Amino acid sequence: MFTEIDHIAIAVHDIDKAMEFYASVFGAQVEHQEVVQKDQVHEALLRVADSYIQLLMPTSQESPVWKFLVNRGEGLHHVGYRVDSCQEALNSVISHGYQAIDQVPRRGSRGTTIAFIHPKSAFGTLIELVEL
Ligand code: CO
Repeated sequence: MFTEIDHIAIAVHDIDKAMEFYASVFGAQVEHQEVVQKDQVHEALLRVADSYIQLLMPTSQESPVWKFLVNRGEGLHHVGYRVDSCQEALNSVISHGYQAIDQVPRRGSRGTTIAFIHPKSAFGTLIELVEL
């Protein structure tokens, strides 16, 4: 079902400094930036082959990423797996008895369709299903 690792998401306090780090040290270019209102985050996507590093900075204290930074500090936040059908992959999670955060697919950044799977159901990793 997985067709690619879509992105590795990293929670940061200062997205400009993080972008500068990846650009100056590794030459990684920012391909897309977006403020996602639903999740209260500013994201930047840096291309790595057919995948991305996704830098995430909260835009308010209501953001789940804000809570993550307070509780766990900066670092790996979630892994986004690309799938042909987000609905089909989500159905598989639910029908196997595992816990989804999103019960139905929703709109993500870049016009993608996404759903999050609870880390308690996935061995401690927050999983995002990403349909392009
Ligand atoms: Co993501």
